[in-house]
Amino acid sequence: MAEEVLSNLMSEDRSFPPSEDFAAGANATAALYDDAVSDREGFWAEQAGRLSWAAPWEQVLDWSDAPFAKWFTGGRLNVAYNCVDRHVEDGHGDQVAIHWVGEPGDSRDITYAELLAEVSRAANALSSLGLVAGDRVAIQLPMVPEAIVAMLACARLGLTHSVVFGGFSPAALRSRVEDAAARVVITSDGQYRRGSAAPMKENVDEALADLPVVEKVVVVRRTGTDVPWTEGRDLWWHDLVDAQPTEHTAEAFDAEHPLFILYTSGTTGRPKGILHTSGGYLTQAAYTHRVVFDHRPGEDVYWCTADIGWITGHTYIVYGPLANRATQVVYEGTPNTPNEGRHWEIVERYGVSIYYTAPTLIRTFMKWGAHIPAAFDLSSLRLLGSVGEPINPEAWLWYRENIGRGTTPIVDTWWQTETGAIMISPLPGVTAAKPGSAQRALPGIGARVVDETGAEVAKGSGGYLVLDQPWPSMLRGIWGDPERFRDTYWSRFADLGYYFAGDGAKYDADGDIWLLGRVDDVMNVSGHRISTTEVESALVSHPTVAEAAVVGASDPTTGQAIVAFVIARSGTAGPDGDRAEAVAALRDHVAKEIGPIAKPRQILIVPELPKTRSGKIMRRLLRDVAENREVGDVTTLADSSVMELISSGLRPAA
Ligand code: WTA
Repeated sequence: MAEEVLSNLMSEDRSFPPSEDFAAGANATAALYDDAVSDREGFWAEQAGRLSWAAPWEQVLDWSDAPFAKWFTGGRLNVAYNCVDRHVEDGHGDQVAIHWVGEPGDSRDITYAELLAEVSRAANALSSLGLVAGDRVAIQLPMVPEAIVAMLACARLGLTHSVVFGGFSPAALRSRVEDAAARVVITSDGQYRRGSAAPMKENVDEALADLPVVEKVVVVRRTGTDVPWTEGRDLWWHDLVDAQPTEHTAEAFDAEHPLFILYTSGTTGRPKGILHTSGGYLTQAAYTHRVVFDHRPGEDVYWCTADIGWITGHTYIVYGPLANRATQVVYEGTPNTPNEGRHWEIVERYGVSIYYTAPTLIRTFMKWGAHIPAAFDLSSLRLLGSVGEPINPEAWLWYRENIGRGTTPIVDTWWQTETGAIMISPLPGVTAAKPGSAQRALPGIGARVVDETGAEVAKGSGGYLVLDQPWPSMLRGIWGDPERFRDTYWSRFADLGYYFAGDGAKYDADGDIWLLGRVDDVMNVSGHRISTTEVESALVSHPTVAEAAVVGASDPTTGQAIVAFVIARSGTAGPDGDRAEAVAALRDHVAKEIGPIAKPRQILIVPELPKTRSGKIMRRLLRDVAENREVGDVTTLADSSVMELISSGLRPAA
């Protein structure tokens, strides 16, 4: 698959230099690259200096206990103070921080002064529950203002938040709450999705059944639906928060104080709790938001369409933009509710100037048709961004032409939950952009493409993407599992001290980087990371399944789609007529175990799975089947007739 992608990408040689106008006014300059090379730590110290510190740091970087980094050691700051209070103190209390748009059509504008009052109240409320710095709080909320307020209130108190995406199942929520031992869970009665109210509190109740570690559940009223109530444990947000005083003095915490844990899929079934801390994280979040999006406080209207349940929402809705005093749009719902013009209507209404989204959505917009955005005034847009997966040149060009009027720069930003902030991206106003390429490590960041031995590959060649220098917003570990942290990211090129990103990449003739997708068993479905093992475990937990193998097959809209091959337990495999039903039941089962995003596009019931003599499933061959290709080399199969058996017995049922 990678080779095919590669040859398509390599035939792409268009380049879009920045306009003179844009370059003249841009936050980023080419000199940044040189500054960062000549004095890397000085460069990062300068970026950190844009934040407000209660006590200065002694050392920019302490890498003596690598791969466990410490940035800005001894420095003290309050993250929420940096995101809210200081803007009010600087006289910008009346500036709108958040233009919130609810899916049903309600909306709220929240100024920085109002945000400060809300965050202070919420901080007082959480303190009143007996929470103290270092405690963990789990948050499962839709895209309502309270989600941002809750995260900032945690940050303000030094509570470590763990946000769990609203679409995750009770089982997925439970394992995350348990792993982090969260004392409090913040959720809502329900959420609006595609025009109707879906329950949320009920799922949380199911997740928390017999989980004594959770002392309180705080419930935001959003949909007004009836909810089950556990006396003594459950509290309404409005009862708890609204009566609190709007004054709260933020205490400073160590630069390395844990800010949040965010779980992400790895190559095994168990999600990893990625740990981020305070000073370095906020420094890089703010720096990248400023230079990559060319953001100007008080002038731009910024919109990142991610959900706060993902890292993009953490860094580019909450911490980066608010640290930079952005005015931003936060939209609760789906892009086609009530119609497919919803995003463009919002852009027009608020005069959005910076718009950041994912390739999967851009391809969906393409499918819906260019006439939809064409019906709106999008002239306020001056910069577009993309994140989550490689963007194919066709989608890039469509995006620029139909959303960006053929003029706006596009930043294709590569990064990960683990990196905390953008690592590889063009710089608007500096870089001549190439559709489909993230191009170059940002000033202050070190990335290279290497072969198996860690040697850098030549221009025009491909290999593994590694990060060869520590960076301020790097993960500080996997919650409770230092061994897994070393193994997953640092063991592959241990001698060289490189961070292994898990992505394939290639240099073009100019030395620009093109990302080629994951090289491990992690799938990327609509920009969401899902591990093949996780879906396989969900499938085999169903009583009718004996064995399962899952692959990510390329998909025109979602990038990759989940295709599962399942062997039924003897006696449970129905006759052909029942297959559709069996498959539907299995798809629902996966949704119940993990969440609807993990539902396989296709489930194929097969008599056998292709295995090597040592028993390892050959996913490569299954991918050939899933992508309707001729099956590749089968010589290492233990039983070479298996593929024929699979192919001849296939009657796709979903
Ligand atoms: C992929 C999302 C190509 C990549 C911020 C990475 C990308 C994984 C890009 C991280 C991009 C993200 N081009 N691939 N611009 N951005 N990826 O942790 O495979 O949800 O390893 O973080 O998404 O996904 P995560």
